[in-house]
Amino acid sequence: MLETDLLPVKQRPSVADTEATRAVEQDEEIRNMTEEQLIEGINRLRKERNAVILAHNYQLPVIQDLADFVGDSLELSRQAAQTDADVIVFCGVHFMAETAAILCPDKKVLIPDPEAGCSLAATVTAEQVRRWKERHPDAIVVAYINTTAEVKAEADYCCTSANAVKVIQSLPPDREILFLPDMFLGAYVQRMTGRRMYLWPGECHVHAGIRPEDIQGLFDRYPDADLLLHPECGCISQCMYALAEGELPADRTFVYSTSGMVRHVRTSPAPTHLVATEVGILHRMRKEAPHKRFVPVKEDAICEYMKTITLPKVYRSLRDMVYEVTVPPEIADRARRAIERMLEIV
Ligand code: 13P
Ligand code: SF4
Repeated sequence: MLETDLLPVKQRPSVADTEATRAVEQDEEIRNMTEEQLIEGINRLRKERNAVILAHNYQLPVIQDLADFVGDSLELSRQAAQTDADVIVFCGVHFMAETAAILCPDKKVLIPDPEAGCSLAATVTAEQVRRWKERHPDAIVVAYINTTAEVKAEADYCCTSANAVKVIQSLPPDREILFLPDMFLGAYVQRMTGRRMYLWPGECHVHAGIRPEDIQGLFDRYPDADLLLHPECGCISQCMYALAEGELPADRTFVYSTSGMVRHVRTSPAPTHLVATEVGILHRMRKEAPHKRFVPVKEDAICEYMKTITLPKVYRSLRDMVYEVTVPPEIADRARRAIERMLEIV
C-alpha cells in the first residue's frame, strides 16, 4: 500500500562541485602527487593513525583495492561495530558513515567527502516519518539502512537488502508495518513474506532506472548466464511476477544484496553473470572470479555519490583527519536501538 499523499520527497543531492573536491584541487601537495604517491601516503598514514579503511562494493576500483574491507551495508556495519582501530575512514555514502558513527561512539569516523549523499535516503525526512506514525500509531516502523540517523531514530527496526525479509518475518503477525523508504525493496519483501505493509514511495535513481525492458530477452542472448538482481531495482516486481509465471528461469534468477551477489559468483557453476545493480560491483566480481564473464544489465547504472570518493580525498581525509561524522547522542541512542535490533536478528 503506497501512501503517496505524504509526498513531496526531498530533492536529489548534487555532487557536481563539492567542498572536498575544491579542497583537493586547490591543495598544492595533493595536486603534485601521482597515484602511487597517494597510495604510499595513505598506507603510511593509516598505520600512524591506527585507521581502518572500509569501502562499499560500489566504490571506485582504486579505493576497493586499498581498503581493509570491502562489503555491503550489513557487512560494513558489522565491521565498524567490531573494529579495534581508533579511526574508521568510511569510503561509501554519508548514511553508511553515520551508521558507523552511531555504532562506535568512541571512535573517530571520517568520510572523505561528506556530500556523498544518497538519492534514496533523501526521499524521506524524520518529520515525514513522525507524520506517518501519527496516522498509524500502533504500527512497527522498519527503516532501510539507506536513511539518515534522524530517520533511523524514528524507527523500531533497521534492515538492509541482505536481511529485510528476515527482519519482517521476525515481527508479530498482527501488527501493522510501515516500511521505508524504498518501495521496490518493500514490494519484494511483501511478496517474499506475504506480509502486507505500508510502503514509503521512495526510490534510488540508479536502481529505479533498471527497468523490465532491460531484462527482456537477456536469457536468449546469454543462454549460459545467471541473472543477479538487487531488490532496489525498478524491475523487481515484474521479475518476481515473471518468475512465478515461469517466464524467467527460477534456477538461474537470484535476488541478492551486493555481497550476496559476490558470494554467488564465487560458487555458481554458471560461466556468465548478468548483473542488475550499480556497475562498481563488477570490479569486485572480476577479482573474486577472474575466469567468469560479467555483463552489466545497464551499463550506465552509476551512483555518482559513491564515485565522489576519490584517492586524493582519501589521502586528505587521513592527513587532515577530515571530515568527522558525528551524530548527536540523543539521536544516536534511538537510532542505535533500531540498528542493534537488526543485528540481533541476523
Ligand atoms: P547493499 O547493502 O546491498 O550493498 O546496498 C546498498 C546500496 O546502497 C544499494 O544501492
Ligand atoms: Fe543510494 Fe542508490 Fe547510490 Fe545506493 S546506488 S548509495 S541507494 S543513490
